[in-house]
Amino acid sequence: MSKQTKFLLNEDQMPKAWYNLQADFPKPLPVVLHPGTMQPVGPDDLAPLFPMALIMQEVSTEREIDIPEPVRDLYRLWRPAPLYRAHGLEKALGTCAKIYYKYEGVSPAGSHKPNTAVAQAFFNKEAGVKRLTTETGAGQWGTSLAFAGAHFGLEVEVFQVRVSYDQKPYRRAVMETYGARCVASPSMETEYGRSVLAKRPDHPGSLGIAISEAVELAVQRDDTKYALGSVLNHVLLHQSIIGLEAMKQMEMADTWPDVVVGCTGGGSNFAGIAFPFMGHGLRGGQKSRFVAVEPAACPSLTRGKYAYDFGDTAKMTPLTKMHTLGSQFTPPGFHAGGLRYHGMAPMVSHAMHLGLMEAVAYNQVECFAAGVMFARAEGIVPAPEANHAVKGAIEEALRCKREGKAETILFNLSGHGHFDMASYQKYFASELTDEKYDESELAMALAGLPSVPDSV
Ligand SMILES: Cc1ncc(COP(=O)(O)O)c(C=O)c1O
Repeated sequence: MSKQTKFLLNEDQMPKAWYNLQADFPKPLPVVLHPGTMQPVGPDDLAPLFPMALIMQEVSTEREIDIPEPVRDLYRLWRPAPLYRAHGLEKALGTCAKIYYKYEGVSPAGSHKPNTAVAQAFFNKEAGVKRLTTETGAGQWGTSLAFAGAHFGLEVEVFQVRVSYDQKPYRRAVMETYGARCVASPSMETEYGRSVLAKRPDHPGSLGIAISEAVELAVQRDDTKYALGSVLNHVLLHQSIIGLEAMKQMEMADTWPDVVVGCTGGGSNFAGIAFPFMGHGLRGGQKSRFVAVEPAACPSLTRGKYAYDFGDTAKMTPLTKMHTLGSQFTPPGFHAGGLRYHGMAPMVSHAMHLGLMEAVAYNQVECFAAGVMFARAEGIVPAPEANHAVKGAIEEALRCKREGKAETILFNLSGHGHFDMASYQKYFASELTDEKYDESELAMALAGLPSVPDSV
């Protein structure tokens, strides 16, 4: 048996173009609707929020989009990211499956998020933007945009979801180290934040609310745009570098994944690892299965409706067709803050709707147990979000063991958990519980989904 553990690419093997699954979908994505008119949006409708280069990527159906040289130069700090064979985990599980993981925790922020933060900061800077506003759930995305903003000379203002702001004070310290400003959301700094706090002063916050606050600030000033860390087509496009590298690394390992696993919050790291392989299969290449792993406390793919909905709670963003729990749904305050989002990326939702992928949901305690097993077998302590992918991969490996199949499993280890040790301590003290969402709140949020004209 080969004992090779790391599969490494040189800097000159880094992909020169991102991959766009829109070119290979058997059916095009549903249109995006304007929140006021409920009619399809055009590029100009999105211009107050994003620079035109990113809007054009959002609607592009080109298969390949070049990665600008300054973006590739900054990627060189940590890319190409390593692919590992999980020999230790395979042994611990006694499985005949071969497990590989792509490790995105080697970036300065500790996750996959800088792959798009660097690109978004670059295109905003090129368009003359001075300031970016954003939300952050786990703090990973806020850190990443702060890092990218510092590099390209942009001011960055981050609304961090209240529970994660309280759970992870050092994430804020890192954002401030990069020169960003970070406030807890809901905040008193926006009209929408004040309205939420007036109704519930101890509101734990949610990504949907933090997005509304960031968008409200962005549209007030001409020199300011908004940046989103997941969900949108251009974000998924930038993350495709994960899977493109992994394809080369699987070839180096002389194998191909039977199954590709990733955790899903808004869908960006899952799409990053999965979509290049999915496109390969759709173009007639070897086919893989794709498994998205989501938290049972915020199960948009497994319990949500595939419907038009707003991306934020204040209903300011355009409407997209996606798997959603309803924009008014507040997920419970579980510890994978980056997975507490009511919706799902339209491209991931479309792939799910077309039957190109599967989804499963697990509770947080079993995901922490998987993360601890992984840490002891492989040495890396995963972020709580990434623990969901670890759990999904372990379940696939155990299935292989039961069925006596030596399948190849590839999963994305989207980030490390070095800022999440308080949640690990809670887990060891048996203080971590499986958070249940409020069924009646979910029913109400789903009942309140916007109605859209029959013509769309
Ligand atoms: C480490 C990590 N993994 C996964 C996610 C989930 O986001 P996405 O589904 O967009 O990859 C986050 C979000 O903050 C994260 O920090």
